[in-house]
Amino acid sequence: MADTMTPATTTTGADRHPDTGLELQSVLSGEMDEISRKWAVTGEPEHQPRRDYPPYRSTLLRHPTKDPQQVDPEGVELWAPAFGQRDVDPLESDLTIQRGGEPLGERMVVTGRVLDGEGRPVRHQLVEIWQANAGGRYVHQRDQHPAPLDPNFTGMGRTLTDADGVYRFTTIKPGPYPWRNHHTAWRPAHIHFSVFGTEFTQRLVTQMYFPGDPLFALDPIYQSIVDPAARERLVATYDHDLTTHEWATGYRWDIVLTGSHRTPTEDDTEGDL
Ligand SMILES: [Fe+2]
Repeated sequence: MADTMTPATTTTGADRHPDTGLELQSVLSGEMDEISRKWAVTGEPEHQPRRDYPPYRSTLLRHPTKDPQQVDPEGVELWAPAFGQRDVDPLESDLTIQRGGEPLGERMVVTGRVLDGEGRPVRHQLVEIWQANAGGRYVHQRDQHPAPLDPNFTGMGRTLTDADGVYRFTTIKPGPYPWRNHHTAWRPAHIHFSVFGTEFTQRLVTQMYFPGDPLFALDPIYQSIVDPAARERLVATYDHDLTTHEWATGYRWDIVLTGSHRTPTEDDTEGDL
């Protein structure tokens, strides 16, 4: 959602919109195109978002600059949160029944498997999601843009994968929403996913997108994964066999934790909600 940090840039007044003072999409798109062109020279596979991706302005001064450090797992377990299978109610995977009435928007199911790099199911894993409502609005104090809140939709859910590594959520298709990375910056519609792992230090966070979104080429967060093959692993597949008559559309999306087909993930330092 909207990031309130002032973008750190070197552009001139001519590159900014006179009303908002924010840089123009054309400036950002030019930078993103240039980075893509440089990457294409070698075409070296990149499986993760770039931490240092200048068009994602609001993360310029806060992205990690040091290499990751190994953490003593026993030490972490002394204070990390723990959960058990009984802590997660099956109803928490249905985001359309959390309040007194039906949320507005396109009801949808998203399901898939959590897999390791060898294609083996990752069983009984806590999968959490959070998302905007159909109008593109989050229930969050930092999201104040003029789109309606839905009293029947919190945008949060969780579930455990089953013995085959399968998760399944029923929810509402989120809308795209504006943020202040630059003038007319709009995020493609997406659902945030977290896979908890067995320790707090193993938690992975990523975003799932919807096929054919016209905002993909314009979005510095999506484009911070410069390898198109890796980016596309964040896009769900529409599955008409999963779609149900007069009830919900269906999407499939697998999460692969390791290996060359690994799902790109992000750090907790990212500016998007
Ligand atoms: Fe978001």
